[in-house]
Amino acid sequence: MTDKKVTLTLQNNASVELDVMQGTLGQDVVDVRTLGNHGLFTFDPGFTSTASCESKITFIDGDEGILLHRGFPISELATHSNYLEVCYILLNGEAPTQAQFEEFRTTVTRHTMIHEQITRLFHGFRRDSHPMAVMCGVTGALAAFYHDSLDVNIERHREIAAFRLLSKMPTMAAMCYKYSIGQPFVYPRNDLSYAGNFLHMMFATPCEEYKVNPVLERAMDRILILHADHEQNASTSTVRTAGSSGANPFACIAAGIASLWGPAHGGANEATLRMLEEISTVEHIPEFVKRAKDKNDSFRLMGFGHRVYKNYDPRATVMRDTCHEVLNELGMKDDLLEVAMELEHIALNDPYFIERKLYPNVDFYSGIILKAMGIPSSMFTVIFAMARTVGWIAHWKEMHDEGMKIARPRQLYTGYTERPFTSALKK
Ligand code: SDX
Repeated sequence: MTDKKVTLTLQNNASVELDVMQGTLGQDVVDVRTLGNHGLFTFDPGFTSTASCESKITFIDGDEGILLHRGFPISELATHSNYLEVCYILLNGEAPTQAQFEEFRTTVTRHTMIHEQITRLFHGFRRDSHPMAVMCGVTGALAAFYHDSLDVNIERHREIAAFRLLSKMPTMAAMCYKYSIGQPFVYPRNDLSYAGNFLHMMFATPCEEYKVNPVLERAMDRILILHADHEQNASTSTVRTAGSSGANPFACIAAGIASLWGPAHGGANEATLRMLEEISTVEHIPEFVKRAKDKNDSFRLMGFGHRVYKNYDPRATVMRDTCHEVLNELGMKDDLLEVAMELEHIALNDPYFIERKLYPNVDFYSGIILKAMGIPSSMFTVIFAMARTVGWIAHWKEMHDEGMKIARPRQLYTGYTERPFTSALKK
């Protein structure tokens, strides 16, 4: 809290003083919790100017294009850390010692198998189901198997559930892919890294040994780091809202997966690749840029724009570099990368995008990398969900640790005033 205040003058000329709260970084916030006592609500659809909570996990400066996880810049974590170390940092607030990291990694590794009965759940879905639909269903169903870690009021239960989710998401994600192509599930391997184990479960078959390519393993690990957390985005806010009712962690993460699936959010990576494929050549770009600017056309440049970033998304920069690395390693040339780079160049020099501060976001290049790795576009958001699970858990844990109130927004009602009811139905 600061000693700063703002004064609101009400219609009856009465004035209300509201406290101003100050964080360590970022905008100050006006504490409006007492406003209801004066017969007023705030109105902010989409929460464009509303802080829903206090958090110590991630800070974003949208104007400067800054992203910090527990104070560590994303570019340094993507370059010098690994996904499991970033998970430890997000969940515990500090970088681990070697011993702490080894213990953390061993615990995660030892929980990667799922209950054998859960594999039957997959067989209840059509083979051509969208993997995100399967992930929503199977993740929520974990609550039916792990009754020993469902009491959210017991810290040990919360810790066990967190490890189970962090450990089992790659296994379930890879199972979604294997099920969709009719191949047998591949069990996790304890001798592989988190990213390496995921790639092995995705691409190994019983017929021959599958060697994980270290460049692809590093690229996948970096993609997981870049998607790990992003403060109060739509899916994290969904997890916090679900968790505020005391819902079990598996149900909360399933809710986060459902929200992430939307094309305006985590579904944008799949939609971006589809858009680039539809544009297909550099010559077609002007036509699509024209459509993106046309208010009468619902088409938007997928992978462009962001609610918070009004500068280059720092994750997009790392993603673009990784894209070149992977394509070079695979000796591949992807025309879509050429289209993406030319589209970025044209858009960043177009007044429409400049005035609205629309830059490439984390989803603009990720699809090209994942496609080059042999991953189908239907799996892109599943990988985003797998990576973001640690962020969702960190916020869910913080909410419980810091104390919480059930999320229950109010509204501006513009419907009918009271009127008598007469039924027109035959008695
Ligand atoms: C993610 O929140 C997070 O942190 C999310 C995320 C995370 O890590 O969790 O970063 C991940 O979701 C990234 C965003 C992925 N989505 C997309 O790439 C989809 C395309 N982008 C847009 O749908 C849009 O930019 C949003 C949804 C991302 C942000 O929308 P806002 O903040 O509500 O902005 P807006 O819709 O009010 O747009 C402001 C203006 C409008 O024009 P005007 O009415 O002012 O004339 O910019 C225009 C919009 O029409 N605009 C675009 C555009 N995005 C915004 N015009 C063309 N193409 C676009 N992509």
